[in-house]
Amino acid sequence: MRQFQSENEQMIIGGMKATDLADRFGTPIYVTEEDRLRENFRRIYDAFNKRMPTRIHFACKANANLAIMRVLEQEGSCIDAVSLGEAELALKAGYSPDRILYTGTSVSNEEMRQLVQRKVPINIDSPSQLRRLAQIAPGYRISMRVNPDVGAGHHQHVVTGKKTTKFGIPKGAIVNAYAEALALGFKPYGLHCHIGAGVQEVGPFIEVTDVMIEIANEVRDVLGLKLEVLDLGGGIGIPYKPSEHEMDVDLLADAITSRVKEHSSIRTLALEPGRYLVCDSTVLLARVHDIKDTPDKRFAGTDAGFNTLIRPAFYGSYHHIAVANKFGREPELTYDVVGPICESGDFIAKDRKLPRLAEGDVLVVYDTGAYGYAMSSTYNSRGRPAEVLVHDGQAQVVREAETVDDLARGQKIPSRLML
Ligand SMILES: Cc1ncc(COP(=O)(O)O)c(C=O)c1O
Repeated sequence: MRQFQSENEQMIIGGMKATDLADRFGTPIYVTEEDRLRENFRRIYDAFNKRMPTRIHFACKANANLAIMRVLEQEGSCIDAVSLGEAELALKAGYSPDRILYTGTSVSNEEMRQLVQRKVPINIDSPSQLRRLAQIAPGYRISMRVNPDVGAGHHQHVVTGKKTTKFGIPKGAIVNAYAEALALGFKPYGLHCHIGAGVQEVGPFIEVTDVMIEIANEVRDVLGLKLEVLDLGGGIGIPYKPSEHEMDVDLLADAITSRVKEHSSIRTLALEPGRYLVCDSTVLLARVHDIKDTPDKRFAGTDAGFNTLIRPAFYGSYHHIAVANKFGREPELTYDVVGPICESGDFIAKDRKLPRLAEGDVLVVYDTGAYGYAMSSTYNSRGRPAEVLVHDGQAQVVREAETVDDLARGQKIPSRLML
């Protein structure tokens, strides 16, 4: 888990006191440190590219903030988009269409038409999609998503590579799918898979690399089609708990690239990290408003609930918590850290030992840059929070907090109900 600096028990992020940010911009608030984003990108980019050419496609489902996408664009990132919306946001953030790969599932003809208009390459998820695209844009630039029957992840909801999931073309059917693509007039350039998310070990990535190499070789030997790009998807985990270790991306790069170089004619790799690039660049700041001691539990009631950060309630995920204005103090009491949502499943942490809390304290929820804001909602009619980017002691709002007017936008009360 990453470490932050402090001064007189005040936590510092991007050269700024977290409590100053909370006071100035209000809470809850997502704060992203630009330098950390750049470091994360360079670490994985360099580990792979010093071994073989590798495109890093930021999976912007993790965080589709335009400023964050822009920072990564400056670093040389490409984009993994799973919807037309993500592809359009990537274009707005300055990515050229050839640096975006669209990988959808249950894709409509209209979505494909729009992508074709914008010249965004499409990764095919099913024979049905392939045939429908052939009607819309014969010969279009495509790659194919295989279901490798190798899956892994931090929760069963995010294991995508197993054969019983809805994703990709089964590995037993993929050679026929390439044959059909050729017959329809396409010349697929790549082969793609994604095993799941939050994978902490190198093993599943090695296993799937071997499966994918075998498929690429079969496609070459049977159909004479030399695929240019092997895309191994995303899924690299990060250490959410102090006891967990960071994935050694050098070891990962070495294991993958040595296999690909030795056993295949693939010359370019692609990866689609989401969490790895953005997760630890961001903290969520939440203010404690209410301390409630009951005979059974001690609650710290904050202004961030599962509307702001759903991962604890949805996946049972752990997010480390510190107190911005008591940074480094020893834990003393056990709290359930809860939010303002009217459900008993509304929590950020359960039975968490923290320094003694008081009303007004600012909590720092770590590792919230991935699937934090992106999965937030306006449930209970609470607008989503602002997002701030910090760099060199400067902070800028990169997304404003939603207001009630935002919540009412587009709603219409029929005039007969106003009489
Ligand atoms: C196709 C694809 N690529 C990449 C990712 C990114 O995963 P992660 O954020 O775990 O790296 C996902 C996540 O669901 C995905 O479905």
